[in-house]
Amino acid sequence: MTLRPLSLCSALALALAASAAGAQQTPPPAGDAAARAQATLAKMKAEDKTVLTHGIMPLPFGPNPQPLPPEAIPGAGYVAGLPQLGVPSLRETDASLGVAWIGGIRKDGATALPSGLSMASTWNPDLIEQGGRMIGGEARAKGFNVLLAGGANLMRDPRNGRNFEYLGEDPLLAGTLAGHAIRGIQSNHIISTIKHFALNGQETARKFVNSKIGEAAARESDLLAFRIGMEIGNPGSVMCAYNKVNGEQACANDWLLNRVLKQDWGYRGFVMSDWGAVPGLDAALKGLDQQSGAQLDPAVFFSKRLADAARGDRRYASRIDDMNRRVLWAIYDNQLDRDPAKPGGTIDFAANAAVAEEVARQGIVLLRNERGALPLAASAKRIAVIGGYADTGVLSGAGSSQVQDAKGPAVSIPLGGTSPFAAFLAQAYQRSVPLDAIKALAPTADVHFRDGRYIADAVNQARRADVVIVFATQWSTEGLDQPDLSLPNGQDALIEALTRANPNTIVVLQTGGPVLMPWLDRTAAVVEAWYPGARGGEAIASVLFGKTNPSGHLPITFPAAIDQLPRKAVDGFDELEPDFAGNPPHGTMTLTADYDVEGADLGYRWNARKGHKALFPFGYGLSYTSFAQGAPSVTGTTASWTVRNTGQRAGATVAQLYLTGRGGKAERRLVGYRRVDLAPGASQTVTVTIDPRLLADWQGGGWAMPGGRYTFATGASAEDIGQTVEVSMPARRWHDPHLFASR
Ligand code: BGC
Repeated sequence: MTLRPLSLCSALALALAASAAGAQQTPPPAGDAAARAQATLAKMKAEDKTVLTHGIMPLPFGPNPQPLPPEAIPGAGYVAGLPQLGVPSLRETDASLGVAWIGGIRKDGATALPSGLSMASTWNPDLIEQGGRMIGGEARAKGFNVLLAGGANLMRDPRNGRNFEYLGEDPLLAGTLAGHAIRGIQSNHIISTIKHFALNGQETARKFVNSKIGEAAARESDLLAFRIGMEIGNPGSVMCAYNKVNGEQACANDWLLNRVLKQDWGYRGFVMSDWGAVPGLDAALKGLDQQSGAQLDPAVFFSKRLADAARGDRRYASRIDDMNRRVLWAIYDNQLDRDPAKPGGTIDFAANAAVAEEVARQGIVLLRNERGALPLAASAKRIAVIGGYADTGVLSGAGSSQVQDAKGPAVSIPLGGTSPFAAFLAQAYQRSVPLDAIKALAPTADVHFRDGRYIADAVNQARRADVVIVFATQWSTEGLDQPDLSLPNGQDALIEALTRANPNTIVVLQTGGPVLMPWLDRTAAVVEAWYPGARGGEAIASVLFGKTNPSGHLPITFPAAIDQLPRKAVDGFDELEPDFAGNPPHGTMTLTADYDVEGADLGYRWNARKGHKALFPFGYGLSYTSFAQGAPSVTGTTASWTVRNTGQRAGATVAQLYLTGRGGKAERRLVGYRRVDLAPGASQTVTVTIDPRLLADWQGGGWAMPGGRYTFATGASAEDIGQTVEVSMPARRWHDPHLFASR
């Protein structure tokens, strides 16, 4: 190979790239963006002021689709720009798990990260940030500059159809990971949302269910997750939710948007609506800044109507300026104009698939491993692989977050009937084949696949095999919840029969959330792979054969029974027909999800309060090695303790610190965590800074820590509590500083 001197152009390109990279390290001061926004606003004519306040869904709608504006890219959203003022249009795509596929209309593909719950099972903020960078890079290369990502809703019900998009049940874990995902996305000089603000806890009746909750409980749980995510990620936009919160639609909710987000938190970016979530023009007065996908609302409220209102009503006149200032602030703060995203960029799909595979490997949770059944020896002679389309692909969750590669799904089973949302409602498998990956790691084994439709046939294979690997799936989707926590389509009976035929049966789960496992005691091993993404098959095989030592830990509680949950069924589920849109069947219908039942005690905190023992608790996950954690020492809000690999293999664990008591009262709150990689016999001291809000209550408009004794414990899970330490803490009261106070 001959090396040639750099041409002037390439030297310049390198210098520019270096300065762009430098710019990513140190964002420009917020003051700069605010001043630029004000300057642009001052130049706007009256007719300019409704351009940035509403957008369309740029997809071919109805029998006579309108042509799209030339700059729009088929995707979730398009908001025209103001070229005369140098303001770019906003080209929006869904992107929580990758650049969304939207039914293949664009004829391109993207790299699918595993589901949100898989990401959260890594407990690895750096890796999730890398995932965000990867998604943002792909989106930029396709010309998108706004990513509808950063799902930070907490799991209040394991039957929620959208749990797979989110990051679990704990505000610290979900908040930190959402923040890092957003930071990764925005490092590409594009905007990310954080969504769906807030208390969007179920899909059933999603457009009218009223999430009822007291202020303290909301501030200590879901709102805290958003707040932490925003502190870390600084998202340019917040997407408000479909549901009502305490009687008002979330997208027209004065308390949520004006009071909490803008006044108390000092948020400077803009609130965009969810698609079809705007009840009327006065949402603008309640804090909504931009109406998204306006075809889906009853009217385009934030165009002519807003302009008319601004002419005659001072409240609207001042709001319209504020709305523009906020959208412009987000554009400038993320340098959308100075470093514009353009279609036609190059994407290194191989490198990006490696990121997806790494997330999947770290996100797989080993739930059970009897008699060292795993890892499998490469020398296993006869392996029966059963079910789950393991010969074809890996399952993905459905709805707007769906991601596929350029060839589209390996299998897609339509489940939306003739409804207008049928394109979104398909059980789609991504092109990563577990069976092939298993064969590659066991080249001398005799591997037999059966699809599992006929139990007798599967059992026949199981009897003849040394080891049975059964792939079980639970599909879930945006727009619909699950009736219960069973595995559908008779899979529980199939697994039961296989375990009876062959005790060396390993269950690989691909689920959207927790499931019950009536067959658990008869299995040799159980692996939770979630929806494992673009390279999920390879990641699963890698764990099964010990190329990867599993290190995932549950970000949610797997209940032992439905009656452990705060509610018997998802509210409205039994009364309403399935409806992706979630509209009320008649205008007057109301429905309440009473979140005051559990308040801020979600998942493991609810179990601790009620004395329930989970099937698998929050924080739990096995490894092929073993770990021990020493006693914590806590000084002020700094805690440290040692973690040791006490086994024979290199591996990673998640060191967890819980508050277990406060002022003589039992508590169970995750207050710190760190993923630690350790060689056999090695140990490491972990130090975490405890966010004092996790030790406090929301009282009288601020945070309050009672003075007294606080007990902290390390844990291998929320139920496997290790050594404790008790310290005295003084009483404290404080307010959260504004989000931009330090910039
Ligand atoms: C979802 C959002 C999504 C939007 C645009 C809505 O149905 O709730 O999460 O960003 O559609 O596709």
